[in-house]
Amino acid sequence: MHRVSKLSFPLRPAIFLLVPVAIALLAACTPENNQSTFGTAGPIAKSQADLFNFIFWIAAIVFVLVEGAIIYIAIRYRQRSPNDKLPHQTHGNDKLEITWTIIPVIILVIIAVPTLTGIWAQQNGVPDDKGEVLSVVATGHQWWFEFQYPDHEVVTANELHIPVNRPVAFKLESQDVIHSFWVPKIAGKVDMIPLNDNYIWMIGDEVGTFYGQCAEFCGIAHAHMRFRVIVDTEEDFQAWLAGMHTPAANPVAGTAEARGQTGFLTNCSMCHTTNSTTPGSYARETDTQIARWNTWIEEEKPTQVSAPNLTHFGTRTTLAAGLQDLNQQSLEEWIDDPSSIKIGTRMQAHASVYDTDDGTAKLSPTEVSDIATYLLSLKPSADAAANAVDDGDGEAVFAAKCSGCHSTGPDAGTGPGLAGVGDRAGSRVDGLSADEYIEQSLRDPGAYVVDGFSPIMPNWSSLGDESIDALVIYLKTLN
Ligand code: CUA
Repeated sequence: MHRVSKLSFPLRPAIFLLVPVAIALLAACTPENNQSTFGTAGPIAKSQADLFNFIFWIAAIVFVLVEGAIIYIAIRYRQRSPNDKLPHQTHGNDKLEITWTIIPVIILVIIAVPTLTGIWAQQNGVPDDKGEVLSVVATGHQWWFEFQYPDHEVVTANELHIPVNRPVAFKLESQDVIHSFWVPKIAGKVDMIPLNDNYIWMIGDEVGTFYGQCAEFCGIAHAHMRFRVIVDTEEDFQAWLAGMHTPAANPVAGTAEARGQTGFLTNCSMCHTTNSTTPGSYARETDTQIARWNTWIEEEKPTQVSAPNLTHFGTRTTLAAGLQDLNQQSLEEWIDDPSSIKIGTRMQAHASVYDTDDGTAKLSPTEVSDIATYLLSLKPSADAAANAVDDGDGEAVFAAKCSGCHSTGPDAGTGPGLAGVGDRAGSRVDGLSADEYIEQSLRDPGAYVVDGFSPIMPNWSSLGDESIDALVIYLKTLN
């Protein structure tokens, strides 16, 4: 027999190391921890925690009894001298064999009852007596979460708002690989699988902000794929929904917001939408998101990919799928060099603004700062006059109507990038000037579809002559 003191050298420090490691691991279980399942804020998470505790204590009792018996027997019947005889052997004792077969069976049956009841309760969807159900479609993307509210035509990303004490039924989808949707304090986790919808429901019974996390390894930024669940009072939730249908104020010419909007339209708008507030914009965004994804998987060197919707981004609290607090400084860092915050982000790998030796943005610090200022300014504006689009302002019309699919830079979105369109438009069709070609393309989107793009541009019947004239003038200025 080895004694501990004779163990090979590295084992001893390893044993001492285990103590702090075990303490650190156990500390993660403290109920106050943001992702601890021991402090719950919803009935489903509570039923799961209760079940865990029930099984834990049964297992603890079994552990103490069995280990106690082993220790007792090892000491009581140890060999004290070389002449000791073997103790009485019980091999083949039917009574004992039957007893220790039946006891575990009874224990497992006892555990099975609440386990199966809990599984059924969660799998069968929201019971009728829980109140009005809110439907949410949650989609996993590498590496962020998209949230759609089909009944309210709202789309957002990474920060999910739900009303307190009301059941929320989720349809879980994935666009790329397998992710897992997990809100530790409110509900358990269910995988998000491409081409196979899964379902989960939950109720948040405490107002506050709760952490969510992807719980299935999904690539390099898996650990950085987080989200927030903001449980609002019913009143705040309705106000949030209303805000998501209220446009942001248009930037005032000459301000940092206005310069930032221009920078955003050039470099970011082919993937990110900022204006899904108007009727019809929900369907357009969901279609566009799919079109972006199709472009991404079809093209060899895609410059776009499905990306978080940034409507009213200024009302969010976090950045980069819940990784950092959102503020001017963190946002500037993110825009300049996203992988310094979230490694692997597709935005940096594909948008041409990051096509530099070190991968940082081809933007001056002022340009970065202006874009950040613009994004943080995106909030519902109660001032109808400030949100109304001036038909005579081509850039404003472009931002409101066109930026979901087109950038004013070189990158193709769902539609072509429009940098230099004034130079090339005149040579597209014999006998048509640049002005005529652009105007015709606006009035009849199907007239001239550029090779490689789908004829999906909507007919902007709401564009009046003034808007079209302003757009033509604006588009010709893009270099
Ligand atoms: Cu998505 Cu892990």
